[in-house]
Amino acid sequence: MPPTITLDLPDLSATHALAARLAGLLRAGDAVLLEGPLGAGKSEFARAVLRAAAGDPALEVPSPTFTLVQSYDLPAGPAHHFDLYRLDGPEGLDELGWEEAREGIVLVEWPERLGSLAPGDALHVALAPLAEENARRAQLSGWDARLAALAA
Ligand SMILES: Nc1ncnc2c1ncn2[C@@H]1O[C@H](COP(=O)(O)OP(=O)(O)O)[C@@H](O)[C@H]1O
Ligand SMILES: [Mg+2]
Repeated sequence: MPPTITLDLPDLSATHALAARLAGLLRAGDAVLLEGPLGAGKSEFARAVLRAAAGDPALEVPSPTFTLVQSYDLPAGPAHHFDLYRLDGPEGLDELGWEEAREGIVLVEWPERLGSLAPGDALHVALAPLAEENARRAQLSGWDARLAALAA
C-alpha cells in the first residue's frame, strides 16, 4: 500500500491552508488529481491552489465546467485547471491540449475520465464531505518525497 495522509478540514480556511501548502510545492510537470463527488470542494480547492500559487487572492478562477480547461501563467510556469466531467472520451483530451499541458502544472477534476492517460506520478487529493456542513476529509497519496510536507 502506498502511503496515504488523511487530513480533516473542519472549515474553508483549513481547505485553503492545505491548498497554500500544496501551491508552495508545485513545479512544472506536476499533476494533481482531484477526486470526490459533486460538491466535495474540488473547484474550491483548485481555486485556492491557483490563487496561492499566483500570490493573488483575487485571481479570477472561473469553473472549467463548460470550457473543460482554464489556463494560467503562474510564477512557477503555466498551469491548467481541467474539469473533465463533460469529456466525451480520451480523444477529446487531445483537442484540449493535454500533452502540452502536461509540460506545466495540471489540476484535474474528474480524473477518472483520463483513463490510461492518468499520470502515474500524480498527487491524488480525494475530498469527501463529513457530517458537519463545512467540514471535509482529504486523503492525499502519491508524491512520496513531497507528501509529508502537505500534512499540517
Ligand atoms: N471545508 C471546505 N472545503 C471545500 N469546500 C467547502 C468547504 N466548506 C464549504 N465548502 C463549499 O462547498 C462547495 C464545494 O463546491 P465545489 O468546489 O464547486 O465542488 P466540486 O468542484 O467538488 O463539485 C463550495 O461552495 C465551497 O465553498
Ligand atoms: Mg468542480
